[in-house]
Amino acid sequence: MRRTTLLHLGCSILALWSAYFVNAEDDYKYYEWTVTYGTASPLGVSQKILLINGQFPGPRLDLVTNNNVILNLINKLDEPFLLTWNGIKQRKNSWQDGVLGTNCPVPPNGNYTYKFQTKDQIGSYTYFPSTGMHRAAGGFGALNVYARSVIPVPYAKPAGDFSLLVGDWYAAGHKVVFV
Ligand SMILES: *[C@@H]1O[C@H](CO)[C@@H](O)[C@H](O)[C@H]1NC(C)=O
Repeated sequence: MRRTTLLHLGCSILALWSAYFVNAEDDYKYYEWTVTYGTASPLGVSQKILLINGQFPGPRLDLVTNNNVILNLINKLDEPFLLTWNGIKQRKNSWQDGVLGTNCPVPPNGNYTYKFQTKDQIGSYTYFPSTGMHRAAGGFGALNVYARSVIPVPYAKPAGDFSLLVGDWYAAGHKVVFV
């Protein structure tokens, strides 16, 4: 009798222990991005463009389904700036979507920490600035959400993986275009 109780206790502890690990939280990914001006000549004429962490295109976000993203965006421009995560569903999380109406632009010298999850989705997406014609001056990049390794996919592993970003450029610069 005593043995059985002990065995039951042992099994319950094992069950609780595995439940704890099965329900462990999804991975967190932390980023700090700083937006600044830079110069480039995408149309053969030198113009002011927008860089993220000194880069155009901005850093490629390589995520996996269900990742939790904590991304602090620091605005070093002389104008408000807002990024949107195009294609991310933002379930019950619309104030992280980075569009006017749900999100305020980040003021100059301010920062804002986006918190969102790539919940139950895979795909190739982009992020881009959603206000002030900033998108015509850069500030965008690729956002990939890969399948979790435990989820089988019905195709072979690709031989290569490239991000193709297409944007409109105006030699006049984004502030002139915006007016
Ligand atoms: C973000 O802004 C807060 C105040 O709004 C400030 O205290 C903090 O230092 C800023 N963080 C960074 C990394 O700039």
